[in-house]
Amino acid sequence: MDQNRTPLFDAMVSLAESRKVSFHTPGHKSGKGISTRFRKYVGPRVFSIDLTCLDEVDSLQKPRGVIKEAQELAADIYGADHSYFLVNGTSGGNQAMIVSSLSPGEPVLVTRNVHKSVISGMIMTGCQPVFIPFKLGHGASFPLNYGTQDILESIEKHPYIRTLYLTSPNYYGVTVDLEKVADAAHAHGMRVLLDEAHGPHLHFHPELPSSGMAAGIDLSVQSTHKIIGGMTQASMLHAKKERIDIDRLSTVLRYLQTTSPSYILMASLDLARMQMATEGVKLLGRALELARWARMKIREIPGLKCANRTEIHAISGGENDLDETKLTIDVRGWGVSGYHVSQRLNLEFGIQVEMADIDHVLIIVSIGDHRGDLERLVSALTALSGEKPHLGSRTPVPSMVFFDNLLRMTPREAFFSPHETVSLEESAGRVAADIITVYPPGVPLLVPGEEITPPVIDTLQRFRDSGATMDGLDMTNRFIQVVSGNGPKT
Ligand SMILES: Cc1ncc(COP(=O)(O)O)c(C=O)c1O
Repeated sequence: MDQNRTPLFDAMVSLAESRKVSFHTPGHKSGKGISTRFRKYVGPRVFSIDLTCLDEVDSLQKPRGVIKEAQELAADIYGADHSYFLVNGTSGGNQAMIVSSLSPGEPVLVTRNVHKSVISGMIMTGCQPVFIPFKLGHGASFPLNYGTQDILESIEKHPYIRTLYLTSPNYYGVTVDLEKVADAAHAHGMRVLLDEAHGPHLHFHPELPSSGMAAGIDLSVQSTHKIIGGMTQASMLHAKKERIDIDRLSTVLRYLQTTSPSYILMASLDLARMQMATEGVKLLGRALELARWARMKIREIPGLKCANRTEIHAISGGENDLDETKLTIDVRGWGVSGYHVSQRLNLEFGIQVEMADIDHVLIIVSIGDHRGDLERLVSALTALSGEKPHLGSRTPVPSMVFFDNLLRMTPREAFFSPHETVSLEESAGRVAADIITVYPPGVPLLVPGEEITPPVIDTLQRFRDSGATMDGLDMTNRFIQVVSGNGPKT
């Protein structure tokens, strides 16, 4: 297929330029009714392509024209049988993958390092998660991903389960050997669903780890907006038809997605695909070069560490790989927290990082970065390192926390049971009713239906006291929703 084509964007421009009179939504009518301040700042053009489902620009709910063509071009380049444009991010894609693939009560083998949207998909369906135990102790300061061997062992142990759910890359760019896992799962009659939010670019450069579709994964969702040229919220879902019910998937997407999708978001997907297909190797090659240069310079700064691909290979025993465009800077040597460094970079140097955790700041290097941006980061870190003794101190909070909590009811049963609010201190032995995450990276410490234990309470209290952003507790981070009564004993 001709990957230079951008059928959706072209149709939008042509419709906008035809200057037809509009008696349809959106109510701002090509920007004529929009606030003057808004129009003055962004210019008039963007409003002329803020369109709705019209014959000329097709419908996401039932694509048969230019959206269908744009999605087919995406499927062609990613090696999928079907690709879908998503306007509610990878969160919506995770929910759609689960609702379309699993039934109430059906077990799903799933890694613990999932995004909370995976758990919300479980609440929607009532499926039964079977979490794969996560082994730490690789000697890395941040969570590597699951080891291939651990996943393969779990597949062997649960031969009756038909669906495996993985996340790769994780937030820190660490990937699983997807090809090995997909082969083993398929040999056991399982299909593999992948949250590839952080990997929409992997397909387009040979020096990046393999993409899900190239590795034979059955369903994969990617945040095009996080790493390449999609606008915020714009993601894609790719499917191979052999083990996936495509009709059911299309139906679920129609149910879960808005009936008024933003054409601007969808156009950004059409253009991001064209850009990657035609210039991806060059653009990503430059991003890789910048990231490698910055990593080298950061490693020379006293007190800082920044693991490279070889080290990730070595400490994971060859089981994990690294997307080198992610720089996880370990600041423990400075005796301060990642939150502290992130704040100083922002307030004093005008540098905003992707995220901080207790021990690190995480930098995403992408096709939008220039050498000067990375030089600015390196000199800011160098300046901070010079005043190291005065930087402050860190609260003792573990940076890696995954708990193998006892699941006393399914997330759906817990979510729909009567709830009550108790203080964290009083919650030991109760059943969690909400998803509790520490953000970033937003991995759930408690899933609805899990028993709350003293180590979880202690960790939540320590995160609270260190000023981490928490989700699922009350505004003061002191109270938690639990299932009324004690819930069933297992
Ligand atoms: C692993 C993972 N999956 C899914 C999401 C949600 O993606 P989106 O923001 O596109 O909805 C995130 C967001 O950070 C994520 O880290």
